[in-house]
Amino acid sequence: MCLDDARYALRVPEEPDGDVMVQASADSDVGIWVRGVTRRFGTAEALRGIDLSAPYGRITALVGPNGAGKTTLLLILATLLTPTAGQVRVAGLDPVADPDGVRSRTGWMPDALGVYEQLTPREYLAFFAEAYRIEPALVADRVAALLARVHLAEHADQPVHVLSRGQKQRLGLARALVHEPRVLLLDEPAAGLDPRSRSELRDLLRELAASGVAILVSSHILAELEELADRVVFVAEGRTVSEEEIAGVSRFVVSGWRVRALDDAALATALAARGIAPLGITAAGSDLPPMSDVDAAALLASLVGDGVPVIAFGPIGGQLEAAYLALNKERR
Ligand SMILES: Nc1ncnc2c1ncn2[C@@H]1O[C@H](COP(=O)(O)OP(=O)(O)O)[C@@H](O)[C@H]1O
Ligand SMILES: [Mg+2]
Repeated sequence: MCLDDARYALRVPEEPDGDVMVQASADSDVGIWVRGVTRRFGTAEALRGIDLSAPYGRITALVGPNGAGKTTLLLILATLLTPTAGQVRVAGLDPVADPDGVRSRTGWMPDALGVYEQLTPREYLAFFAEAYRIEPALVADRVAALLARVHLAEHADQPVHVLSRGQKQRLGLARALVHEPRVLLLDEPAAGLDPRSRSELRDLLRELAASGVAILVSSHILAELEELADRVVFVAEGRTVSEEEIAGVSRFVVSGWRVRALDDAALATALAARGIAPLGITAAGSDLPPMSDVDAAALLASLVGDGVPVIAFGPIGGQLEAAYLALNKERR
């Protein structure tokens, strides 16, 4: 039942074109591997050809607009839906052929967490620990450690219904971690979180990745994932549009830039003196035309050098958004 990754990988069919992702599948560094996955609901095609891989030790973002197919894909990876076609490996196992094996290695945090409101977080996690057949003698300690890890220790014995949205979200994450999975699937985990909860989520996911967990995290809000993820897979209309390292994304993108200064007039004068006409000026700042990272850095240095009191300077909408928009433009 429990095949080791290396042996299992030998059974992954070779692709005729010798694609790199096939090599990745034979490498035990890959926690999730998806190739050509489609899924129909009646006549509707939710997924039309998804390819992605999510290595161990990395946070991979699954990014796309509403309806792109993110939840459908995550449900397939979590063994809760079957693909219509294509190949899937999660922790080296096929979710259709070995759902129990996949579930024992995978933590799943759905977008809407169904919690039993009358239970306390401690009881809730103990219930799931038992469901995952954690040895009874270990349950209390495991649960206490998880509660501390997601900053819920002080609410451990209050009913779940008094928790805030962010606290319920963290309980959902603790539930996904109760059996120490090697692969973690999170559907829109940052939705509705305040900035502090979001940065705590980021720290926790970073720690998990550093301990070797493969993390796949979806969002339709690009800015949420930009700081969090190491890699990004863009999906639209059920297809993978692009799969990139985050560092690579910022390299090829030339986005617009937004600059804000304490003294609007001094900024306007300094820009005009450099022949730069803002594309728009709002309360958020002056939007400047696209320029390379190097040119933007030089402009910032020269504005500051001339005494313009700059308080903010950055790419408009973030690099991922610019990359995403650029990719969509290519497809048209
Ligand atoms: N159970 C279902 N029955 C019919 N259509 C569905 C079902 N689940 C999802 N879809 C459709 O599949 C597409 C992808 O949905 P979803 O995976 O939820 O996207 P996302 O999570 O990226 O917003 C949407 O067009 C959605 O309406
Ligand atoms: Mg969704």
